[in-house]
Amino acid sequence: MLPSLKEVIAVLVLGLESSCDETAAAVLVDGRRVLGEAVASQADFFAEFGGVVPELAGRNHAAKILPVVREAMSRAGVNYADLDGIAVTSGPGLTGALLVGLNFGKALALGLNIPYVGVNHLAAHLQVTLLAENAPEPPFVGLLVSGGHTALYEVRDGRDNFPELLRFRLLGETVDDAAGEAYDKVGRLLGVPYPAGAVLDGWAGSFSGKMESFPRPMPRGLNFSFSGLKTAVVRRVKELKGADDTPLDETTCHAVAAGFQQAAIETLANKALAACKATGLRKIVIGGGVAANRGLRELLTRQSAAAGVTAFFAPMEFCTDNAVMIAARGYQLLRAEKSASSDLEASPNMELGVEA
Ligand code: KG4
Ligand code: ZN
Repeated sequence: MLPSLKEVIAVLVLGLESSCDETAAAVLVDGRRVLGEAVASQADFFAEFGGVVPELAGRNHAAKILPVVREAMSRAGVNYADLDGIAVTSGPGLTGALLVGLNFGKALALGLNIPYVGVNHLAAHLQVTLLAENAPEPPFVGLLVSGGHTALYEVRDGRDNFPELLRFRLLGETVDDAAGEAYDKVGRLLGVPYPAGAVLDGWAGSFSGKMESFPRPMPRGLNFSFSGLKTAVVRRVKELKGADDTPLDETTCHAVAAGFQQAAIETLANKALAACKATGLRKIVIGGGVAANRGLRELLTRQSAAAGVTAFFAPMEFCTDNAVMIAARGYQLLRAEKSASSDLEASPNMELGVEA
């Protein structure tokens, strides 16, 4: 039987993240205060591939996990013996990638005789928004926008004595591409290496000319669709390049990026506010890599205010994949005595609301 966290006053949790192309570790006190963290990104490695190659991601995680954990521990200034629990991403994600962090965490926890828990990566992206200074109290609408997912949730507090252990009910999701995926595909078309979101955001933000115009994809209800928008961009870029395939100049690339971004963020903002209307909730919380988008932050903040809704974004540094969010969510799960058994497995298709 593993020891319980109940009696510990200041709880130190080590979080591990390895679901895609970031190997990350973080040590948090009481699921809130970050003592130390480290992230090794494989983005540069995969830039030339135009996206993540699952087999290679797994190998890279295996090479990086120990140095990254050591770095986070050393920045935190704590010893392994000081840890009270370990939280690992158990899904969704790439199987081979997930297994590296999961098995490392499991082995470490068993060696230290402390509890460990599997964390849903999607839940963690939204849970981390509670670390912001002006964090909202549930219930609220949660908009998760990342490279692998785009979805809306009704988010409620945990029952009993665990108000910060967020619970989720799916309201709508993308029927094809995720928003971040669309950014990366459009980026590739414009010669921007993977992951392209931040660069396109920068181009769109500084563009003051006449932007290209693209359709706003609005599927039924609270679902999203981004593949039609991406196809419209592909078609327009082909047209602009002409029969002789002339490369686009910088201004034209920026006009395309600005037009694409405008269509993407208007869709996101529109659906997010529709979710508030449908649920009667007046707060919306946005997490995931695309939550770092400055255009989206500005537009959604403005449109929300006009609709009497308050928008809260994940702290900028915790939008893209990190282990702080895993430790923050894991702490809440461990407090609620939801530690995993030694047969915890990777769940590549894990849905939100399912954690072990
Ligand atoms: O959450 P994340 O790190 O990984 C997944 O869980 O998928 O999100 C990565 C995605 C990439 O597609 C990247 O292009 C996008 O987030 N991204 C952005 C921005 N920063 C990162 N997209 C738009 N604007 C940004 N500023
Ligand atoms: Zn993510």
